[in-house]
This record gives sequence, C-alpha cells and structure tokens, in this order.
Amino acid sequence: MSVELALSAAQARDAADPLRALRARFALPRDERGAPLVYLCGHSLGLLPLAARDIVNAELDDWARLGVYGHEHARRPWVPYHENLSAPLAMLTGAQPSEVVAMNSLTVNLHLMLASFYRPSGARTRILIEAGAFSSDRHAVASHIAWRDLDPESTLLELAPPAGQDLVPEETLEACLAEHGAQIALVLWPGVQFRTGQAFDLARIARAAHASGCIAGFDLAHSIGNTSLELHAAQADFAVWCSYKYLNGGPGAIGGCFIHQRHSEAQPRASHSGGVPGARLAGWWGHEERTRFLMEPQFHAASGAAAWQLSNPPILAAAPLIASLAIFSEAGMTALREKSVALTDFLDELLRPLEPAVRILTPRDSARRGCQLSLRIAAGAARGKRVFDALAARGVVCDWRSPDIIRVAPVPLYNRFEDAWRFSRALTEALRESP
Ligand SMILES: Cc1ncc(COP(=O)(O)O)c(C=O)c1O
Repeated sequence: MSVELALSAAQARDAADPLRALRARFALPRDERGAPLVYLCGHSLGLLPLAARDIVNAELDDWARLGVYGHEHARRPWVPYHENLSAPLAMLTGAQPSEVVAMNSLTVNLHLMLASFYRPSGARTRILIEAGAFSSDRHAVASHIAWRDLDPESTLLELAPPAGQDLVPEETLEACLAEHGAQIALVLWPGVQFRTGQAFDLARIARAAHASGCIAGFDLAHSIGNTSLELHAAQADFAVWCSYKYLNGGPGAIGGCFIHQRHSEAQPRASHSGGVPGARLAGWWGHEERTRFLMEPQFHAASGAAAWQLSNPPILAAAPLIASLAIFSEAGMTALREKSVALTDFLDELLRPLEPAVRILTPRDSARRGCQLSLRIAAGAARGKRVFDALAARGVVCDWRSPDIIRVAPVPLYNRFEDAWRFSRALTEALRESP
C-alpha cells in the first residue's frame, strides 16, 4: 500500500470507528506547538481521563468541607471507597465482584498473595516463573523463597522459550509442569508478557498447574483493560495488577487483586486463613465493616477478596480510577477489544513491509496478543536505541525495553488508526536516518 493510500485507509477506519468519540475524553500530551503527540505508551502509563479532575476535586472539596465526617458523609463515603471499583474491576477480569478488591500496588499485592498461597512443603517447594520475568516479580518470589529459609537459586524455576525463540508456547509450560510439577508449589505467570507482548491462555495454564497440584497465580499488569479476561471461569487461584497502564488510574494509582471465591468462602470467617492453604496477613480494613470499629482483638474477615485489605484506602490514588473505569463500563470490553484487534492488526500490516530491518516479536495471531507490539531493530541494540531516539524526536511516545526492544501500544480508548499510520511513517524515516 502506498503511503497516501495507507493514510486514507486509516482515516476511513477512524471515521467508521464507533468508539472514536472516546478520544476526546482523555488529555493528549502535546508538542511545543500544541499538536498532539503520537501517544502509543498506554502499556506504561495510560492517559488522564478528563473526568478524573472532577472526581479528585470532589474528594478534596469533601475533605475541606467535612474533615473527618467525610469517612461517612462524603459524596462517595471514604470507608467503603473500594466498593466503587469492585463492579467494573469484576467486569474487566471476568470475576464476581466479591472476588476483586482495589488496594495497595502490584508488588505489595503480590507479596500478600505469596504469603497466603506459597506454602512450600516436603518436596513441593519450587516457584515457576518465566525467564526474564519483570524484575519486581522475580524479586518478590525470590524473597519469599529466602523468607522461608530456602535457596532462591535452586528453588526458583525460570522457564525460557525453546532455543532460538522469543515466545513460550503453552505446550512448553505444560511439558515443564508434567516434568517438574511434583516439586512446584506455585506458578506465577503473566497474562501478557511485558517484553514480548505475548498473551497467554490463562485457563489452560491454570488447568495444567492444578493437574500437577500447583497453585496458579497471574500478574495482569499488561492484561487488565487490554485483553478479555475470565479469571473465575479459568479457576485462577489469584491475580494481581496495577492500574496506571491500560486502566488509566494515574501514576502510582491503587492496584488490585483477585482471589477465587473458593479460597475465601471455604472456611469460617473468624480466622486468618480464609480457605487458602496458608494464613492471611491481616489488617483492620480486612475485618468485616459492620464490627470493624469495635476494635476487638479477634479478626472477623470481610467476605471475599476484601478480607485481604490491610489499611484504609488511599482515596486520592483511587479517585481517578473511578473516572476511567466508568468509560470502560460505558464502552464495554467486547467493543474495546474488537477495536483493539483491528487497530493492532492494522499497525502490524503497516509494519510488515519494514521486515527484516524491523522484526515484530509479538505473535501475529490476535488471540495470542493484546494491543502491544514489540519490535526489534536489526543490526543490534545500539541502532535500535538510535531509532527509538529518532522516533521520540518525531513526536512519537513509545518505550525502550532493555536490552533491545521498542514497545508500541495503540490503545482503543484514545488511539486512532491514523496514529498507527503516523507511527509507521515515523519508523520508516527513523530507520532511514539511523543506519
Ligand atoms: C509486569 C509487571 N509486574 C510488576 C510491576 C511492578 O508494579 P508496581 O510498581 O506497581 O509494584 C510492573 C510495573 O510496570 C509490571 O509491568
């Protein structure tokens, strides 16, 4: 397709896009002349939903107006504030509302989940993660292993892609579980791998983990708000996520957690364990709300995932998320995903002619990816970085992931087909000027 034809095809797709009006509900970063940048970085930090200002201002006003009475009398009372987020989070994760809770941040939630679900015993002590896992996840699991006086080097099992490949087929994971499953206590796997953009079949992974007697937990940092999730039906044991990427909750926004109801409902609530294999680390906000303020020493768990809360919620880190999730609820994940597939397929088509100078690592099949494409520039990381810098100089916002990957994510809420075209043109020029 010629450059002009591709631009008119992109503009025709935008004109026919039933979700095109949503873009105007986000703040688009601009260059010094006031033109919107080509923002393709929602996999790192999502954009500000304009309605977030009013919600944050409402909380500040209620604080100013009511002081401590805001806990009960703010327009959105602060004591049960997390409940504002439960229904949309359940919608996005394919969970029951009681199975999800907005709290803390991703790594903290991962530690809480490992405290409950990682119970090494006998020969079953190992944790299986992907080789090249996000550093924070690896630090978290390695520290839990060490916390229990085990050796992280021999206890952590890191599964690499088959030789010469970048992706891990589910079959490889299944074969690993079939071989080592009796030694594995817990599998922690990403919904979408942060470096390659590969999306996994979570139900299949949970099934394989359970067949080997292992707990199946998921890091959904790059999946939530990006791919369609069915955690309840998949029988996932737990999942954790952050809200500043595809959920547009703002820098450092409140994270979230899923705990399958079979774990929280299996045992009497007057205990610290829920139904999970081990204990639950507890704090007063996980206590049932009705009797929380009696301040009694005995812990009575709230029902569901809410029992894992420790502290009262950070209202100002949660308020913007209410605005963003309202847009998700309005648009619906089915329509968003439909547009996302079309948009990423369009970008993929525009970039294929640049092969072999650019290699797309992300699977081509839309069922095996979200919106992110991960690109490797031929001729090494130094050239890749020069190309990346040349893209930034052309007003493209994407990111560079060590050692040699450029990640780009057209997000269906606020990106246009024209953005995909602009990126492909900028990349063509950047390759030309960075030999
Ligand atoms: C895959 C993955 N895991 C963990 C984290 C860490 O998140 P947090 O800083 O919210 O704990 C991130 C952050 O980008 C991530 O992408």
